[in-house]
Amino acid sequence: MKPVGSITRGTTNPNRLRRVDNYVAYRCGDLLRDADDPLVIDLGYGATPVTAVELRARLATAVRPDVTVVGLEIDPVRVAAALPHADPPRLEFRRGGFELAGLRPTVVRAFNVLRQYDEGEVAAAWSAMTATGAVLIEGTCDELGRIATWAVVEAGEPTTLTLSARLADLDHPAVFAERLPKALIHHNVPGQPVHELLWALGRAWETEATPFGPRQRWLATCRRMSDVWPVLDGPARWRLGELTVPWT
Ligand SMILES: C[S@@+](CC[C@H](N)C(=O)[O-])C[C@H]1O[C@@H](n2cnc3c(N)ncnc32)[C@H](O)[C@@H]1O
Repeated sequence: MKPVGSITRGTTNPNRLRRVDNYVAYRCGDLLRDADDPLVIDLGYGATPVTAVELRARLATAVRPDVTVVGLEIDPVRVAAALPHADPPRLEFRRGGFELAGLRPTVVRAFNVLRQYDEGEVAAAWSAMTATGAVLIEGTCDELGRIATWAVVEAGEPTTLTLSARLADLDHPAVFAERLPKALIHHNVPGQPVHELLWALGRAWETEATPFGPRQRWLATCRRMSDVWPVLDGPARWRLGELTVPWT
């Protein structure tokens, strides 16, 4: 089976995907606990497999010890480099692309992969990665993982958008604009919903300036947003620097 996709830059970093790992445990924890075969694919793990190793360790602790992570990479050199870090049967590395190498995972995480593709290629990639029923978490973050955004995609369709930031470093939510998923990044222009969302978030943040630090400010910002936007999560997630809205 020929892997579907193209080799792209392999930039990665330890702990870069900590924020999204926490979300995967929260959003997909019950799905994985109920699964006969709790398989998670980390698609496009990059030059080193460190984020796949971390994903497996975090899910084993937070969700279930027998969770299996398979890191798929389209670049065979990166697969070879990862093999010494495998810990079969619970952590493996293989060559594969958007077709998922014939595997049938419960969850797929694809981070900082589609950002290097054209927007016109996103829908087909989403469909391929969810074709066998997996929930896909697809997103983008900065080099150290302090600013991240991701979509949850089910049956080829995006259902939610999450914005997540390390609050100690957050000067203004406008920074999310540079790290939007590929499907949205070119749509951040007046008249588009994502532009309205970031504009409203920025206004709420400016209104909620408080002497009690960035966490209190973000909590108040999210509370204000939830008065006028269909915010899907609550204070327990807001405290982590997250905000989730329906994709629409
Ligand atoms: C920037 S790295 C991301 C590494 C890691 N996920 C992270 O966020 O730190 C992107 C990786 O995705 C791989 N890639 C691109 N398209 C792919 C595809 N269709 N299937 C599997 N891997 C792919 C590239 O070869 C590259 O190593």
